[in-house]
Amino acid sequence: MERRSCRQYLKTAVDRSVVMELLFAAQKAPVSCNLQITQYVVIDDAEILKRLSKEVGYKFSFAPCYILVLSDKRFTVERQSAVMGAGMAVENMLLKATDLGLGTCAMAGFTHDDAIRKILRIPTYVDILLLVSVGYPDDPSLKHPIEKLKIEEIYSFNGYGHLKTIHPSPQKTDVQSTIDYRRRIAPVYLSRFRLNIFKEAYYALAFDFFKKNVIEKMESTKTINYLDVISYDGIFLRKVKEDMRNLNITGSDYLKNNLLFLKTELDIDTALINEKNEIQDVQQESIDVASFVFQIQFTPDRVSLMQDVSSKLKKGGLFFIGFIQESKIKFLIRKILNVYKKQILKKEVNIYENNPYYKIGMHWNVQGKDIQKLARISSLEEVVFSSHKDGKNTVHFFLFKKV
Ligand SMILES: Cc1cc2nc3c(=O)[nH]c(=O)nc-3n(C[C@H](O)[C@H](O)[C@H](O)COP(=O)(O)O)c2cc1C
Repeated sequence: MERRSCRQYLKTAVDRSVVMELLFAAQKAPVSCNLQITQYVVIDDAEILKRLSKEVGYKFSFAPCYILVLSDKRFTVERQSAVMGAGMAVENMLLKATDLGLGTCAMAGFTHDDAIRKILRIPTYVDILLLVSVGYPDDPSLKHPIEKLKIEEIYSFNGYGHLKTIHPSPQKTDVQSTIDYRRRIAPVYLSRFRLNIFKEAYYALAFDFFKKNVIEKMESTKTINYLDVISYDGIFLRKVKEDMRNLNITGSDYLKNNLLFLKTELDIDTALINEKNEIQDVQQESIDVASFVFQIQFTPDRVSLMQDVSSKLKKGGLFFIGFIQESKIKFLIRKILNVYKKQILKKEVNIYENNPYYKIGMHWNVQGKDIQKLARISSLEEVVFSSHKDGKNTVHFFLFKKV
């Protein structure tokens, strides 16, 4: 009942005697034929972790200790028993850790196994199954419950009964399906370390643009009513709030859970966006400045949302939009891969696994001209435009004025 995945930790080291308790708990789990082919590499050396995070990825960078779960694949057993056994052992470990006041996160979302093998000298006949981060928790999202399906949706007695296929990703792109999807996925990514594609640097660029073109120009205004559209995990808002004093900030989102998070973490007003894309509790023509930062790709029915935001802006009010455009080649390759999987391999294409944006929702290759078109039909006039190339991505910033 207490265990949760923790994605932000204190720097405090985890004592090896404590790690041993986790390993003893793991060893107590049931295991197929008592084969005992699950093995663990504990990584608590700062230098090695530094190398792993550089050569493998950020998942090795946020906790003081990691346990890599391995299985010897030369002894294959029935019904994925090796994986099942490791899974049971890991859960034992996670529960023990919870008991000891530690936070953990089981992670399968990493690649570059070759680099891991090289750095940790893992032989090729051993499978790398899972990575578990361990440390003392410092993750604000742990305070907020994670949503689950209704229990009736996952069980039935004496037969498959009423059970239906559970699609891990939305089958439709309407607002309600996206909200339902986000309810499942979004709470997982409330901690900021999920930002492996939207780099910190992009937020810094967005903030510089916002400060220079919006806030500094309005410095003389006493109080600015400011609305952020789909604040999500509030990364942009946190930057704004730290720097600006004269803003009356409202964050908004489709999920009540996220709003609670924004309210408690940032101490700002919040507004729920409903399934008709109306930002509730925000008066018409009451907003001086709105922002919509790196979220437009994930927003179903952008037209109605833009029009609603525009209706909430005062005449002459400013609307800042930042978005990241992926290179056409990257986009095309993913499209081709998806078609190949669907048509040739007959695999269900599940955006949860095939889409780098799965963490929040849909995938839409936004272009500047799409935004300009949306603006035109929402009574918004372009004031400033700038773009920055960063490797395969381009970051675009627009500033519009309500006419
Ligand atoms: C096999 C497996 C792989 C997972 N991989 C990741 C991962 O790569 N990154 C991550 O942040 N969480 C990962 N998780 C954690 C899940 O996202 C998390 O358990 C789930 O959202 C439920 O939240 P809770 O653990 O807080 O109850 C993984 C969990 C499992 C069981």
